[in-house]
Amino acid sequence: MCGIVAYVGHRQAAEFLIDGLRRLEYRGYDSAGLATVSSDRRLHVLKAVGKVDALAEKLKRHWAPGTIGVGHTRWATHGAPTEVNAHPHRGGDDCVVLAHNGVIENYRLLKDQLEEEGYKFVSATDTEVVAHLVASCYDKLRALETEANDDPYALPIAAINEATSKLRGTYGLAILLRDYPGVIFAARQGSPLVIGVGNHEHWVASDASPLAGRTDKIVYLADRQLAVITADSLHVLERDIGTVSHSVEALNIVADDVGLEGFPHYMLKEIYEQPDSLTAAMRGRLNDVDATAVFGGLNLSPQQLRSVNRIILTACGTSWHAALVGEYLMEELARIPVEVEYASELRYRNPPVDQGTLLFAITQSGETADTLAALREMKRKGHPSLAICNVIGSTIAQEADGGVYLHAGPEIGVASTKAYTSQVVTLTMLALYFGRLRHLSFEAGQRIIAQLRKLPDLVRETLEVNNEVRRIAAKYCHADNFLYLGRQFNFPTGLEGALKLKEISYIHAEGYPAAEMKHGPIALVDEHTPSVFVMPQGGVYEKVMSNLEEIKARGGPVIAIAAKGDKEIARLADDVIYVPECEEFLSPLINIVPLQLLAYHIAVLRGCDVDKPRNLAKSVTVE
Ligand code: F6R
Repeated sequence: MCGIVAYVGHRQAAEFLIDGLRRLEYRGYDSAGLATVSSDRRLHVLKAVGKVDALAEKLKRHWAPGTIGVGHTRWATHGAPTEVNAHPHRGGDDCVVLAHNGVIENYRLLKDQLEEEGYKFVSATDTEVVAHLVASCYDKLRALETEANDDPYALPIAAINEATSKLRGTYGLAILLRDYPGVIFAARQGSPLVIGVGNHEHWVASDASPLAGRTDKIVYLADRQLAVITADSLHVLERDIGTVSHSVEALNIVADDVGLEGFPHYMLKEIYEQPDSLTAAMRGRLNDVDATAVFGGLNLSPQQLRSVNRIILTACGTSWHAALVGEYLMEELARIPVEVEYASELRYRNPPVDQGTLLFAITQSGETADTLAALREMKRKGHPSLAICNVIGSTIAQEADGGVYLHAGPEIGVASTKAYTSQVVTLTMLALYFGRLRHLSFEAGQRIIAQLRKLPDLVRETLEVNNEVRRIAAKYCHADNFLYLGRQFNFPTGLEGALKLKEISYIHAEGYPAAEMKHGPIALVDEHTPSVFVMPQGGVYEKVMSNLEEIKARGGPVIAIAAKGDKEIARLADDVIYVPECEEFLSPLINIVPLQLLAYHIAVLRGCDVDKPRNLAKSVTVE
């Protein structure tokens, strides 16, 4: 949701701003804008409703010159997606221009105060309040200033600190001040900001994707920090502390990671990347000597980990589905009781949690507001709170006591695919790890490792179903409703398959544990409602088969995901997608692949915008 970019250096800022905003499109937005300052100190502001392309078109007609600028994609919260509400917003008599990501909860009160001071508002946004507030603090402090300060930026720093200390809520801010040409001030609290370090140039962005191919040096700004950035310098300060050291880290993504690489959509590219992203998630984490998994960043001693007697997995959306698979895995392999909680519920509940409870917050983006709030609440209560996270340096990664990175690379398609399978494989390795700390035998550990090693090739083989899935998609793409049914390890697979279809094709789809279907949803079954059955070989195969018969008996068409070699299924199902046979505990990782492809092809056939589905945002930074 919302994306910020900014540039200061020796090139035309607008070129990077447009390209950077395009790379942030996946976060979700409905309008875009940019502001540059030219060498004659004139401010150039351009805004457009809709796509970044519309802004780029405007820019062709009215070039915004200057080697410093800020840009923004806005996902409307306060006020409709109009040009007036689009960022950047100006404050004072244009002495401030800024872009904001986040939500200012006390904006009403601040707006009233600023209006009393004489500031005039043109938009309905909370952001314009920040712009005028910075202007107001700056003007007041400047009026008080009596003697010269050694630090040339002391005044704007004090003004921005004063303004941000009055804000309640979340913000990532990129601010330009008329009196300080050539300087970007970047501040954050709860909304991510990264800074790319170059040769006589710096970039600011909401995440690393706009920096790929431009620099391999990155600084992750932390909460309460303010960066003062010129072409040649970068200073980081912390509110109430002053200058703090910052570490410049290696940025490991390259331009190809954020390009389409010949694929028509990011979602398809990311589905196809899964053999590699699974390999990356497991790299260096399987230990044959002890037949276990190893994790460098849990930051808990083996004694602490051994005394864990309950695990809470919390997450939202697709990550919550990964958590559900994790519940089956942990209970099966590690015999630890697990609860899976929607983060949006956990944050406001007060469940009795005793010592020995460990929390894992599972998140691709590391920025999901509800997941972050749930993590903070559990930390506040003193429970060790770890993260399973993809985006390096994200807020949740920074705030967790420790955790595991997925190393899936940038996931740009809004519908999560490769991050999901990386989450599930990480949970599988964690289940192995906890199992080996407890009762799981050396031989069992070895067997699990051997199976995990085969996984990337099994997924590669599974991807061969693509043409068959496209054929099946064409047959069913006009249906208005779908059911997705699975049991045990593959009940969450059904939920995730249904969510993928809903998100990108806007078809109503429900995932259910297959046997639950007769307690209500079976009323939906008719000849127009396809049911997708996930039915690998294993403990509940026969049971799922009975559920399938129940659907067939009511005239419902059935698409089955079944293991190669299953002779029985073709007799009953209308269409079968055969996937490689594997151990039951790995089957969610195989079976989800054809469901991702099914959703993808149906959405394409229906003419939907697969990578940027309506109303959705990639990182959901509001409650
Ligand atoms: C669905 C999807 C969302 C996210 C959810 C949580 O395809 O991507 O449901 O899974 O918004 O996001 P993260 O994992 O970033 O916390």
